[in-house]
Amino acid sequence: MPTAQVTLDPAFRIAPVGRRLFGSFVEHMGRCVYGGIHEPGHSEADVDGNRLDVLKLVRDLGVSVVRYPGGNFVSGYRWEDGVGPVGNRPRRLDLAWRSIETNAFGLNEFMAWSKLAKLEPMLAVNLGTRGIQEACDLLEYTNHPGGTRLSDLRRAHGVAEPHNVRLWCLGNEMDGPWQIGHTTADAYGRLAAETAKAMRQVDPTIELVACGSSNADMPTFGSWEATVLDHTFEHVDYISLHAYYEQNGDDRASFLATAAGMDRFIEGIVATADHVAAKKKSRKRLMLSFDEWNLWQQSRFGGHTNLSWEQAPRLIEDTYTVQDAVVFGSLLMSLLRHADRVAIACLAQLVNVIGPIRAESDRPAWAQTIFHPFALTAQHARGDVLRVATTTDLYDTAEHGAVPLVDVVATHDSESGQVTVFAINRHTNEPARLDIDLRAFGDLVVAEHLYLGGDDLDAANSIETPERIAPVRATGHTIDGGHLRASAPPVTWNMLRLVPRPA
Ligand code: AHR
Repeated sequence: MPTAQVTLDPAFRIAPVGRRLFGSFVEHMGRCVYGGIHEPGHSEADVDGNRLDVLKLVRDLGVSVVRYPGGNFVSGYRWEDGVGPVGNRPRRLDLAWRSIETNAFGLNEFMAWSKLAKLEPMLAVNLGTRGIQEACDLLEYTNHPGGTRLSDLRRAHGVAEPHNVRLWCLGNEMDGPWQIGHTTADAYGRLAAETAKAMRQVDPTIELVACGSSNADMPTFGSWEATVLDHTFEHVDYISLHAYYEQNGDDRASFLATAAGMDRFIEGIVATADHVAAKKKSRKRLMLSFDEWNLWQQSRFGGHTNLSWEQAPRLIEDTYTVQDAVVFGSLLMSLLRHADRVAIACLAQLVNVIGPIRAESDRPAWAQTIFHPFALTAQHARGDVLRVATTTDLYDTAEHGAVPLVDVVATHDSESGQVTVFAINRHTNEPARLDIDLRAFGDLVVAEHLYLGGDDLDAANSIETPERIAPVRATGHTIDGGHLRASAPPVTWNMLRLVPRPA
């Protein structure tokens, strides 16, 4: 039986749990916008066409930031098409996803929706087919109070107050040959730096994200960041990273250890950013924006060039299993343990398109399996992330080498006294014994131990059985002399919440 001896201490803090770690992403892709968050005429839609059943799930998910409007889509997008009277908006070819874009939903609709959902917007500018001028124009339209051509245009469009959007991405995945306007690190770095400087002249309060690598397997990974940051280091606040993971054939052992790959990816970028800082003799510690991450069975996607021109087609509507929820929960643990450097993370995407939420025209929206670890982590990872001292057994994987069978992350909220422990048991047929030394926190009791995983790893939620998979309540834990002892069933993601013993 695998065991994990864990010691926690409130003094060993990594960083506060930033709420922006629980972001997501809405792209004009497939049915994420149309038929996802927005579906006029649906029985659950409000007067603006926003689906309230989807909105409720978005709120329950606990999402903080939402990135918009892409993704690959943004690299061919004209933001002006999506503002003003809906009847005057052009239908366009969206080259990124070979789709027909009606532009019925645009910037002001997105801003109204994010207000309703109580989310912080994060906008991307098009540095694929456009450049500095359009980025500044969009920023003026969005954030300038009034008295200029574009801010007055916004007002004429019925939005009197500026949107005051803080977070801006300087393009999307410009290292990828699939990107419209794909370019070299040098050319992108120069453009991103100049765009950043000009945008800050429009609004000095914004925070800017430069494009890092589209994934850790890109041939330019590492050198791309080094070159881009050589140009942009002083002008941006974040470097982005994107990653989508899937099981390779029947190699479950490696898939369960995916978080080890995510750890390495993050640490590689941190090292590169700090290398650039050292070269520039700068004390600045650049933060990371993991602004697209998820599981995605990308090998099953035939690529955009094989699609036919359609309006809001069904694209990459992956169904997530119980096993996916376990791995997904462990990716959140990786993000948490890097909270000192990862400031923003966006689960890509939010609805239908590799989304934790699914929606169909004739039924209420429902939550996929991966919804649950996200919602629980967003709700209960509070206060500071703690440095965890864990002793556990290792196992060998083809993709990641030797990896701990049990991985643990913990947070501590000094105000409420709550300690939350997240643990994954990667053993495929044995429960893991957790022995957690909590003496440094005083007298705690277990408020709950929930897990996802267990016997039927292929089970999933569906339109017919939307609530089949939900967190399971575990029993059998004890606290004795400040030691928590609990058992994590095989292939499970676990959350244990400990609170001070009531007086
Ligand atoms: O999320 C789907 C796509 O994946 C995004 O448009 C792109 O940025 C990434 O390659």
